[in-house]
Amino acid sequence: MKQELEKLRVSAKERIKKANTKEEIERIKIEFLGRRQGKLTRILKNMKNFPPHKRPEVGKLVNELKQEIQEELKRKIEEMGKEVVEESVDITLPGRKPLLGRLHPITQTLEEIKRIFIGLGFQVVRGPEIETEYYNFEALNMPWHHPARDEYDSFYLDNGYLLRSHTSPVQVRVMEKKSPPIRIIVPGRCYRRDAIDPSHFPMFHQVEGLAVDKRITFSDLKGCLTYFVHQMFGKDTKVRFRPSFFPFTEPSAEVDISCVICKGKGCRVCSGKGWLEILGSGMVDPEVFKKVGYDPEKYQGFAFGMGVERICMLKYGIDDIRLFFQNDLRFLRQF
Ligand code: PHE
Repeated sequence: MKQELEKLRVSAKERIKKANTKEEIERIKIEFLGRRQGKLTRILKNMKNFPPHKRPEVGKLVNELKQEIQEELKRKIEEMGKEVVEESVDITLPGRKPLLGRLHPITQTLEEIKRIFIGLGFQVVRGPEIETEYYNFEALNMPWHHPARDEYDSFYLDNGYLLRSHTSPVQVRVMEKKSPPIRIIVPGRCYRRDAIDPSHFPMFHQVEGLAVDKRITFSDLKGCLTYFVHQMFGKDTKVRFRPSFFPFTEPSAEVDISCVICKGKGCRVCSGKGWLEILGSGMVDPEVFKKVGYDPEKYQGFAFGMGVERICMLKYGIDDIRLFFQNDLRFLRQF
């Protein structure tokens, strides 16, 4: 009996050693350990052929061999698994490029605007998006009854706060804390209750500018903004200052540039006018200076506010503001 078992052990080990496929291993397993016809199983099933006092010993020997073969099979499978893994790494494949992100076109435009004004000596300042009515309107010479408030129809929160409808309140916040000279720009988000259409979105970005000093004049305003336009849109772009009104500047002007599409001839983008409006500006109103405790006889200043989406749309010929906020990679990847 012992000899027979020894033969089985040797043949099983040999077979396992030579096996190269999972299927072969499975076949060996069935051949030796299979529940019905397995060679070892059969010995156990025929136990009655052994004299009773031999049976425990035979049982023990068979079970030991069974375990040995099982372990052998297990080892072989593990070994094969490793080889498979090793083979699956193809070191000749070119490496995968990591996906590179990019800055959103609005961020890029903001960076460009910042770069230009920082070059002129302006500092970048930020302010809260949740504002009080005082900073958003009152301190900017727009008392509660002022009809100009209608233009900035805002989102009001309980407790008297609102989402700022422009970045101008930061002018006041800065002047309250600092004395002239001041040269700041304020990039940031603003909110208005505008219905969504190709040129309106209830959330948008502005860059505010403010320069206050002794003897700041309207020519400083013109020079500064003309320089900005030439940097942003190219030297050939014409600039036009058109009289306008803002409660917090006096005099006020809106700045137009010659249409970037038709170069001033008149087209669909500029509605045939040849000009495109890009920002509001003016000399700081003495009333605003009084609110922050500056002496309007001593100091003058200019201020401006531009919509970043609009600048970006004009620069790249984008015809719908909604594209900025839809997260469509086909659009965003172009920048
Ligand atoms: N705050 C104005 C707006 O949102 C723009 C502006 C800023 C005009 C500063 C004049 C001076 O329309």
